[in-house]
Amino acid sequence: MNIQLSEEHISVMEAARDFAKSELLPGVIERDEHQKFPGEQIKKMGELGFLGMMTDPKYGGGGMDTISYVLAMEEISKIDSSASVVMSVNNSLVCWGIEKFGTEYQKEKYLKPLATGQIHGGFCLSEPEAGSDATSQKTTAEDKGDHYLLNGTKNWITNGNSGTVFLVMAQTHPELKHKGINCLIVEKGMEGFEVGKKEDKLGIRGSDTHSLMFTDVKVPKENRIGEDGFGFKFAMGVLNGGRIGIAAQALGIAAGAYELALQYSKERKSFGKPISEHQAIQFKLADMATKIDAARLLVWQAALLKDQKKDFVKAAAMAKLFASQVAMEVTVEAIQVHGGFGYVKEYHVERLMRDAKITQIYEGTSEIQRLVIGREILK
Ligand code: CAA
Repeated sequence: MNIQLSEEHISVMEAARDFAKSELLPGVIERDEHQKFPGEQIKKMGELGFLGMMTDPKYGGGGMDTISYVLAMEEISKIDSSASVVMSVNNSLVCWGIEKFGTEYQKEKYLKPLATGQIHGGFCLSEPEAGSDATSQKTTAEDKGDHYLLNGTKNWITNGNSGTVFLVMAQTHPELKHKGINCLIVEKGMEGFEVGKKEDKLGIRGSDTHSLMFTDVKVPKENRIGEDGFGFKFAMGVLNGGRIGIAAQALGIAAGAYELALQYSKERKSFGKPISEHQAIQFKLADMATKIDAARLLVWQAALLKDQKKDFVKAAAMAKLFASQVAMEVTVEAIQVHGGFGYVKEYHVERLMRDAKITQIYEGTSEIQRLVIGREILK
């Protein structure tokens, strides 16, 4: 693997870092406490191009590579993962999914406003009884000739309330099992589309996670992505790429907690010297830094393979599996370095630890990543 960051990569990373410090850091603790969606901040992220980083400029995107995207994701996630999850879902699931598999009509109508950040979207696969077992879709999309009639409930939908456009997986031909599933582009405001309850979460509390209900929603046929029955393959293909974004988010959470712990260790004194001069703390910092570098290499490897249009499925799952584990381990240790201060909100690390946990769950649990890696190794 040969990754040499270009000047452009560095400036994207610095722009994301500056934005996170100046726009996301103020108020992040309050937004977490009150579960407040970072609406103004997401609007600014859209204006700066963070919501459609990899999309072709002809559809309003930044035309950047995946390395630029993971660099920006890491920096934003060091400060506020409630904002970076919006960025991740919009960039790598919604925009990338429509750009790679959608029709010209879908790109003109939906991708342009999504990539320019005028609106953002969501990805609706999970259901009350179809989480990891994603082939068991109960939501139905009945073929009515010129439209589908959509019925069902989707759970755990990131951007469920704030989003405008949703990619919804639904079963059209139950006898064909996963080969009968379609992906439909559904707009908020379509009759019969209702936003359900907001989840009260452990972490990423600023992001709006809702259930969505569909009752006889008429979705035009031209909103189907790909051929009839392509929906499950679409979802799996898109999630492969999405996992790189979540891996970068996990990496950012770990790196953010580490930077805070390092800084604190130089300032806090005990037994007459900064705690960074105690070997007990140095060992912790050494382990944290080593794990973070290893996670970053896996994230960059997956991003590079995707940019080179090589098979990145195993690399993406490995990056997500490892980086999310590192995010948990490092955030727990960052609290330990802070001692009692780490346990209170003001020092940020307890929030980072709570945020880290979701990276082991969404876009496929760690168990699903192992399953994907195992299958790729053995195929
Ligand atoms: N990439 C491409 N294709 C894949 C794939 C992958 N990673 N995994 C499975 N497929 C394909 C298979 O090749 C197969 O295709 P064929 O029928 O043509 O052979 C088809 O999908 C069905 O696969 P399986 O028979 O292997 O199905 P399975 O039920 O045994 O396993 C699974 C599938 C891998 C467990 C899958 O259900 C899965 O990935 N589950 C996790 C779902 C998930 O990640 N949910 C996250 C929700 S989205 C989210 O969190 C977004 C957010 O808001 C933040």
